[in-house]
Amino acid sequence: MPTLFDPVQLGAISADNRILMAPLTRARADRDGVPQAFVKDYYAQRSGAGLIISEATGISRQGLGWPNAPGIWSDAQVEAWKPVTAAVHAAGSKIVSQLWHMGRLVHPSVSGMESVSSSAIQAPHYAHTYEGKKDYVVPHVLTKDEIAAIVSDYAAAARNAIRAGFDGIQLHAANGYLIDQFLRDNSNTRDDEYGGSPENRTRFLNEVLDAVIAEIGADRTAIRFSPNGETQGTDDSNPATLFDVVARQLAGRGLAFVELREQRPGGTFGKTDVPLVSPSFRRLYDGPLVLNNDITPEMAAEFVESGKADAIAFGRPFIANPDLPLRIKDGHPLATEDYKLWYANGTEGYTDYPTWEQAQAAA
Ligand SMILES: Cc1cc2nc3c(=O)[nH]c(=O)nc-3n(C[C@H](O)[C@H](O)[C@H](O)COP(=O)(O)O)c2cc1C
Repeated sequence: MPTLFDPVQLGAISADNRILMAPLTRARADRDGVPQAFVKDYYAQRSGAGLIISEATGISRQGLGWPNAPGIWSDAQVEAWKPVTAAVHAAGSKIVSQLWHMGRLVHPSVSGMESVSSSAIQAPHYAHTYEGKKDYVVPHVLTKDEIAAIVSDYAAAARNAIRAGFDGIQLHAANGYLIDQFLRDNSNTRDDEYGGSPENRTRFLNEVLDAVIAEIGADRTAIRFSPNGETQGTDDSNPATLFDVVARQLAGRGLAFVELREQRPGGTFGKTDVPLVSPSFRRLYDGPLVLNNDITPEMAAEFVESGKADAIAFGRPFIANPDLPLRIKDGHPLATEDYKLWYANGTEGYTDYPTWEQAQAAA
């Protein structure tokens, strides 16, 4: 069986090791969704990862509601991503763009547009906006023509990602955003062909997938789900059945990989008693499988060596450990990040975390 440090083929993407960087929103773009110049340094520093999954990146103005998060719909955004992908490639790694439409989790004060979703159900909790936290709003219910327009936006964003030098894309179908809002029966109460049965609720996902694959190929297209438990108000009464349907639909399609962010009892980034779906997904789905969420280096080694996963994505550990794979390999302790700087808009708490070697030299 392979180890974490063996290479892995993820569709068309060859990763040098099986420690991937999970997508992390860091809010270092301007208000037009254009990444700032120092974003390239952050990603280049983390190029020890076999593959970097970028922070969630808006496919359209309508779909982007996180203050200072980046987009990939405009030429200015594409130009600003080019030095980022070039820096990662120069440092020897690969990077895919995580394509994002936030649906009902977009606050109109951030996008300047109406909030949209599968159904007219307001999300619980609060939206982050430029003016602080605000209640979410009741979203406009997407018509079939409007759904088709969003599918086209995903295809255009995938095309832009390749133009910007990304090795592929990851569809963000996790964490309660638009695709997840269609997938789950607590946020999708439609009575047309996009709602009801799991086959209907997965229709939007499959339409997006078909459109993206037609643009850039299945072997450069990945997907992320958060199958078990509630996330940002989105939940399902029967995730085991839903994700068996998803796994069967995706099998044989030749995707780059599927990533599952699974919550566990006692988790620190969401927790749930709802069972993991990955064992069943692994049986039904034939492509590369990546697991994430509260996975320690020891668990990661066991998951890969026992064949539960082909690779592991680490999120928070990559923030304060730019050289995470090397630290794991050498058995060094991991640094912890300052969570108050997760979404700060500057270089502090972003590009100033030292490697193990730099930290020892400074001590
Ligand atoms: C600051 C921060 C930003 C995040 N941004 C994203 C994101 O843009 N897209 C996404 O799919 N998940 C996002 N996540 C979730 C992470 O990818 C990951 O699932 C989570 O941190 C759990 O993995 P870990 O235990 O290895 O940190 C974010 C998490 C954190 C802490």
